[in-house]
Amino acid sequence: MKIISGKELAAKLKKNMAKDVSTYMARFGRLPKLSVILVGEDPGSVSYVTGKAKACQEVGILNNTIRFTDTITEAELLKKIEELNSDNTVDGILVQLPLPKHINESRIIEAIEKNKDVDGFHPLNVAALWNKNDCILPCTPKGIIKLLKSENIEIKGKNTVVIGRSNIVGLPVGKLLLDENATVTITHSRTQNLPQVASEADILVVAIGKPKFVTPDFVKQGAVVIDVGVNRDIETGKLCGDVDFEACAEKTSFITKVPGGVGPMTICCLIENTLECFLKHL
Ligand code: GUN
Repeated sequence: MKIISGKELAAKLKKNMAKDVSTYMARFGRLPKLSVILVGEDPGSVSYVTGKAKACQEVGILNNTIRFTDTITEAELLKKIEELNSDNTVDGILVQLPLPKHINESRIIEAIEKNKDVDGFHPLNVAALWNKNDCILPCTPKGIIKLLKSENIEIKGKNTVVIGRSNIVGLPVGKLLLDENATVTITHSRTQNLPQVASEADILVVAIGKPKFVTPDFVKQGAVVIDVGVNRDIETGKLCGDVDFEACAEKTSFITKVPGGVGPMTICCLIENTLECFLKHL
């Protein structure tokens, strides 16, 4: 069994990006800039946004985090996005989700200029992904494929099971695995005989948002298990994944841990997407 460290791979990739970015000022006369919008005080969201700002700093790109209280109206938020859309010094725009209930999330995502949508959440980006056209890849699925490839884990022809069907992770990671010629089963909390279905997977990706949801009966001997969960352990208050790591690890050939697994890769891919947007729109 080997623990795949997203933290280590992300650090290596960020170092390489920093090296590239150090040449940008001389080559292009300006630096890439990521604008992050955070509404409200949710501790999870605050911590994500802090991590994104820190990664920008590490790579040497510009970042501004724009904070609003959760009393902001949808119209005010749309106005800010419009401002960022037309600001030529801004290459990437990210609105941290979830948003307060009085704001229509889809309307906000649709308002972001498609070519600055570093999350890859805009419907035109999503459509491009599913149509096999050029697109900005969503960060978490992109990070998962990079993690698998970094360990030379063969994806082609493998039986892969995804638990979870969200727009952010489950559906797009299924699509990226398909594009790598895996056979993909996307499952969810209502799937019948889920442990049995999951235990047929060579590669199991879990993004269901329930602590310790995956127990050893979900895991085939020698499987690769990727844990995308970000939960708080009810007893300890600590960050934990969707997989009961202690119980499952020894059955796997490769497994990721929370924290230090997929999370750092998501942020790393966000920076990579920002550089891609910058280079495309010079
Ligand atoms: N909330 C949880 N994950 C994400 C993400 O990847 N992007 C944004 N914008 N919000 C999130």
